[in-house]
Formats: sequence, C-alpha cells, structure tokens
Amino acid sequence: MSQQVQGVIAPGKNEPVRVETIVIPDPGPGEAVVKIQACGVCHTDLHYKQGGINDDFPFLLGHEAAGVVESVGEGVTDVEPGDFVILNWRAVCGQCRACLRGRPWYCFNTHNAKQKMTLLDGTELSPALGIGAFAEKTLVAAGQCTKVDPEASPAVAGLLGCGVMAGIGAAINTGQVGRGDSVAVIGCGGVGDAAIAGARLAGAAKIIAVDIDDRKLETAKTMGATHTVNSRSTDPVEAIRSLTDGNGADVVIEAVGRPETYKQAFYARDLAGTVVLVGVPTPEMQLELPLIDVFGRGGSLKSSWYGDCLPSRDFPMLIDLHQQGRIDLGAFVTETIGLGDIEQAFTRMHEGDVLRSVVVF
Ligand SMILES: NC(=O)c1ccc[n+]([C@@H]2O[C@H](COP(=O)([O-])OP(=O)(O)OC[C@H]3O[C@@H](n4cnc5c(N)ncnc54)[C@H](O)[C@@H]3O)[C@@H](O)[C@H]2O)c1
Ligand SMILES: [Zn+2]
Ligand SMILES: [Zn+2]
Repeated sequence: MSQQVQGVIAPGKNEPVRVETIVIPDPGPGEAVVKIQACGVCHTDLHYKQGGINDDFPFLLGHEAAGVVESVGEGVTDVEPGDFVILNWRAVCGQCRACLRGRPWYCFNTHNAKQKMTLLDGTELSPALGIGAFAEKTLVAAGQCTKVDPEASPAVAGLLGCGVMAGIGAAINTGQVGRGDSVAVIGCGGVGDAAIAGARLAGAAKIIAVDIDDRKLETAKTMGATHTVNSRSTDPVEAIRSLTDGNGADVVIEAVGRPETYKQAFYARDLAGTVVLVGVPTPEMQLELPLIDVFGRGGSLKSSWYGDCLPSRDFPMLIDLHQQGRIDLGAFVTETIGLGDIEQAFTRMHEGDVLRSVVVF
C-alpha cells in the first residue's frame, strides 16, 4: 500500500523546483509517516538545488519541519499516531563508535527511512537530509521524530529541526558560550541570528553581529546583538578587536561558510578562544592560513554540524524555554507561504529579505 501527496522536488542542477505528486509507501519496520504542518526554507535546500551537496537528483526538498505522526511501522514504540513531532536529521544509532564513547551528537550511522519515496513513474527521490518535508506527508525513520509540547506553533517548532537548532547549538553546545563571554557572529541569517539568540540565552555579556546587509544587522539587534558591524564598510577583525579591549572575542561563530569569513573569524577571536564554523562551504572552497598562526594563536577551531545537538535532549528543552518566553523562536518566522512559493522564497532568501519563509499546510 502507498499514498499520493503533493511535494516539491529539485529535478536537476539549478533547474527551478516544481510541485509533483509523490508516492509515499506505508511505514515499514522502524519507520513513520508524518503529516507535515510546517516546513521552513533553509539555505541548505538551495545548496541541494544548486548541486552543492551532491548529484543525487531529483531531491525531495525541505527538512525543517514539524507535524503529526500519522502511522508507524512494526516495532516503533517511541512515537505513536497523533504525536506532535519535530523532524530531525540526527536519529542516533546508539551503536557506532561515537555513540559508544558517549558522544552521540557525532553519530556516524544516523537512521533514515529504508524505503524510498518516488514519483508516479517510480523514479526514486532523495529526501533532503533524509527528511523531504516540502510535502503534505513524508516517510522517515521513527527516530527522526522528536516529540515536543503540542501547544507550540508548528511553524515555530519546525525551525528547530535545522537552522535554528544549528545556530543555537553552535553557541551553546559547540562554542560552549558561558555567562560573561564575548561572542561575535559573522553572517546574520537564520542560522547566525539563532547563534546570537543562543549566546544571549547562555549569558554572553557582549554579542557582536557582523553582516554585509544593514537590514540583517537591525534584526540581529532584536535577537540579542549588543553591537553590530557592517563588514562591507568596516574591517570586521579590527572592529571586533576594538570592541573587546583589543583582544578579540572569546567565541567567534562563522555562519556564512566562505573562506574569507572563516579567516575573519580566525583572526577576530581572542588568543585561546574558540572558532565555530557552522556555515556550510561548497566542495571547491579552499582555506589558506599561515600554519604558524594556527599554532601560535592556540585555542580551538571547531566545526558544528546541526549545533552538536541531541534532538531528544535539545528540542523539548528549547520548545519549553520558548513557551516560557525565554527565547523567542517566533521571531525567526518572517513569512508563511504555500508549497508553490518555494522558488520565490529562494530568491527572497538570496536577496536577504527574509530570515525564514515557512511553508504551512
Ligand atoms: N552546520 C549546520 O548544521 C547548518 C545547518 C543549517 C544551515 N547551515 C548553513 O549555515 C549558513 C547560513 O544559513 P542561513 O539559513 O542563515 O542562510 P542565510 O542566507 O539566511 O544567511 C546568510 C547571511 O550571511 C550574510 N553574508 C553573506 N556573505 C557575507 C559576508 N561575506 N560577510 C558577512 N555576512 C555575509 C548574508 O547577508 C546573510 O545575512 C549556510 O551556509 C547554511 O547552509 C549549516
Ligand atoms: Zn551512532
Ligand atoms: Zn537546514
């Protein structure tokens, strides 16, 4: 048995996305079908469409989603039909060497659905990040469903499924921002702003937002930035140093994913500080740095996949803090759109008009 729903695919490199009928198999062992209520448009969806992630076209795009479990396959005990869930792309295996060392956020064998969703002619789809939620329903591994407070709005909750969690986690998990720290965030889109909000939640005393777009810097202030730097007109390294008594920031978070912004992060951090790379580079990008500076400046250079989050630990906690008014996840939703508006949402993202466009069903 299977069912047919509408979904948005990226058919080929740089081709416009389009709405298609998608065939969803009934959930097999360990799988779940989820009725999607909302799914945010993340820069990573655009990377997929541009062929920047891999060439496994056609992609079923969308991966920042919340919805309600419709049905589950054999052996699924953690979720049941009717549960309100955020979809995650880190369903940890519990058995790989990272999991066994007690570091499941580095899990090397995360679970996805084993069966394939297809087009009507049988063409197999590659779901973005193993999710594929620009669709009325999607098939995932049951472990990709994380239950949270059903009182939360789906449009807000879904964002924790990727970019907002990546940003908050880059600050609180990877960067280990603590009370009183100085933090700089380079690139203030959805991910960078989430890092700013995370740094504020963690008690950072100084939060410096860097972007090339003044509109983004204005929004960054509402998220918790105490200072802003437009790096088109001002040298960001000099600016961050002068805002931190000449030292550089304790933690610098790079949320663009380019060699030049990474270098800025590298030189704008205090000696023995931490650089966190959360922006995703493309495969051809190269980084050149004097090795003596890597050595001499000490500290730590980290990358952050998905904010080193553990969905089961972090999603319910952040939804609870949001519901209590301690972090405003609603501020990331710039607009709600329909399934047919995704191409336009990519354009608006590219032009810097939005933090997040969220498809609602
Ligand atoms: N590591 C992860 O797990 C993870 C998860 C989700 C997204 N990402 C990545 O994070 C990055 C940001 O995603 P987003 O959704 O916030 O994208 P976005 O397009 O909304 O934001 C990017 C921001 O960077 C700014 N920018 C561009 N060039 C700049 C420069 N040279 N200097 C300073 N600022 C610059 C833009 O003005 C914009 O505000 C992307 O690379 C995305 O793929 C990573
Ligand atoms: Zn594992
Ligand atoms: Zn994403």
